[in-house]
Amino acid sequence: MLFFLILSIFFVYVRIMEYLCTGIFKFSIMKQSLYIAFICLFFLSCSSSPEVSSPDGSLSVRFEQTEDGGIAYSVLRDGQTVIESSPLGFLTEEQPLRNGFNIAGTKKNKHTSVWETVWGEERFITDHHNELVVSLEHESGIRMDVVFRVFDDGFAFRYVFPEQDRRELTVTDELTAYRFTQTAEAWSIPWRTEYYEGLWQKRVINHSQFSILNSQFSNDTLCSPVTIEFADGTYGFVHEAALTDYPAQNLYVREGALRTYLTPWLREPIKNEELKIKNEVKAYVELPFATPWRFVVLTRTLPELVASRIMLNLNEPCAIEDPSWIKPAKFMGIWWGMHIKTMTWEQGPLHGATTANMERYMRFAKEHGIGAVLAEGWNKGWEDWKHFDFTTPYDDWDMDYLSRLSDSLGVQIVGHNETGGNAADYEKDLDAIYRYHEANGIHVIKTGYVAPIIRTMDGLQWNKGQSGVRHYRKVIETAAKYHIAIDNHEPVMPTGLQRTYPNLMSQEGVRGQEWNAWSADGGSPCEHVTVLPYTRILAGPVDYTPGVFRFENPIIPTTRVHSTLMNQLGLFVCFYSPLQMACDLPEHYMEHPDAFRFIEHVPCDWERSLLIDGKIGDFCVFARQERGTDNWYIGGITDEEAREVAVPLSFLNVQGDNEQSTKGQCTKYKVTIYRDAEDADWETRPYAYNIEEREMTADDTIRVRMAAGGGFAMELKINQ
Ligand code: NOJ
Repeated sequence: MLFFLILSIFFVYVRIMEYLCTGIFKFSIMKQSLYIAFICLFFLSCSSSPEVSSPDGSLSVRFEQTEDGGIAYSVLRDGQTVIESSPLGFLTEEQPLRNGFNIAGTKKNKHTSVWETVWGEERFITDHHNELVVSLEHESGIRMDVVFRVFDDGFAFRYVFPEQDRRELTVTDELTAYRFTQTAEAWSIPWRTEYYEGLWQKRVINHSQFSILNSQFSNDTLCSPVTIEFADGTYGFVHEAALTDYPAQNLYVREGALRTYLTPWLREPIKNEELKIKNEVKAYVELPFATPWRFVVLTRTLPELVASRIMLNLNEPCAIEDPSWIKPAKFMGIWWGMHIKTMTWEQGPLHGATTANMERYMRFAKEHGIGAVLAEGWNKGWEDWKHFDFTTPYDDWDMDYLSRLSDSLGVQIVGHNETGGNAADYEKDLDAIYRYHEANGIHVIKTGYVAPIIRTMDGLQWNKGQSGVRHYRKVIETAAKYHIAIDNHEPVMPTGLQRTYPNLMSQEGVRGQEWNAWSADGGSPCEHVTVLPYTRILAGPVDYTPGVFRFENPIIPTTRVHSTLMNQLGLFVCFYSPLQMACDLPEHYMEHPDAFRFIEHVPCDWERSLLIDGKIGDFCVFARQERGTDNWYIGGITDEEAREVAVPLSFLNVQGDNEQSTKGQCTKYKVTIYRDAEDADWETRPYAYNIEEREMTADDTIRVRMAAGGGFAMELKINQ
């Protein structure tokens, strides 16, 4: 565009100079046409929409403007529109930023890099995208850029307010929407689900028949992320990345589009569920400011969807100068006992976190190669869940002794800070709390926010509102100063921040195993675990706490774990977390020591990860290579349907980046297979399993039958 403009000006300049020097204005028909052509081309290039394509050219995002200066975008895949013109912009208290925009300029960039994760499902991640920055000037004088990034497997954009005279904006609504052209069915949970601890359901989100899902304030507004199955068999994943100082996004459907509903600030304490939210403010923004990224993964297959690393690529690189102290670990814990009600958090005859019990757990962990032990209920304050003291142990917990024992055994203590939702109190003492833990050799803390008024902090604000997001970030940043990693329960939905702060190692935000101990509905149905790898876990590591070995609960006999023992083993591979808890009691593990061996061996830090086969809500089979070795682990889980799966081992042929590899073309592996017995069934024979060993190569395919509610696990090691 600029080129044509300069050329046109140059020609006109030459003609004028000629005229001034000679007094003759030579304006031949030929040249006249040339000028006109240049001028036309100039206007043509001005009016065409800025567009950017993915590196392989298959996906393009087009920025669009309406006549009144409204802003929108559309997305094409292989020339077909997959998202038609969808609005962008904001409503703010100061100024609606919906229309009245002019394009002040555009800029394009290309980017390719490979970065190494501190821990993760993959050691190396490739970031390959093309970028388009559309700089806009609003009629009010406000300047805003929309930055698009297009990857081969999806796209993202964020709004950036550069430095300008205006210092702040009060966002009352974000207008971002996604108008998918095909019928889309989304796996989702309602936006007010208690700490995201719900059962995911599939529902149509943009069909004309859809009528229920139309109110921002009803339960039919959805949490982000949503995982989409499109009518043509392709997949999508809509979420946000790099949420650091903004409310979490939720999504609702209106007029056939999926739209953004930002979690509001609450102007008065929530008294009850019916409270009407009026005059909502969503975000207080200080300029310059960049919103989190909004991104959509679009893939033809489920393995590609699961393999997408767009979310991590959109987060900033590691902000911790030397993250070498951050180590993935499996852990056990004084925990399940409280949920099945054989122990208590507070001091008393059934107190779980006593010195003696902790020592028993730590010695067991040492013997079985488990790196760490969590203790809940070690500190004072559990009597009223309000006045927690994070630096004073109960009288029957000897911190000095246990901290020395931890050193001598080489088994870490995982600390626990349940705040009862009193975030403000916790925040004001953070430095002292973390200093205390560091001084006692504790480098991982599980945090918790179970509040009397659920989903809120201090009874005032949503956990996932802007103030909650700020609180969680402050916790992570402060913890890093004291070399402490965080396993955050009752979190805001993860958005890939672990790239920037790898000490944010795991999070809950899921209806986890504990529901199987006490839930009034009797425990999660078998299907639940076969939905999570495609939904919640795509948002980041999950502290689901697999590994229950005794399914009946004598104290609450109406509940139980809906799985076979082999399903519990399969979860260690299918559910990713660099802090992976084996949640049951030592004595329960000793009822099946041969099956427990898999838990002893399975790592939680990976070189590579692959979804081999699966279907959302039915089953999944994952293969993962242990980081820095040639060992592979395969896990499978199924819903209430028994099924047989074929696992071709051809992935073993792919040469990774592991320099220590001793692998050759026909390498033989010793494969240990932990599988459901023929007659296994989660309801009638959950403990029926077989363990067998075989020698196999990459040319082999293993067929495994999973029982109803069942699963399997395999360990593959090079046969020396
Ligand atoms: C809820 C957490 O999810 C659970 O793991 C923990 O035991 C309790 N809160 C107590 O903090």
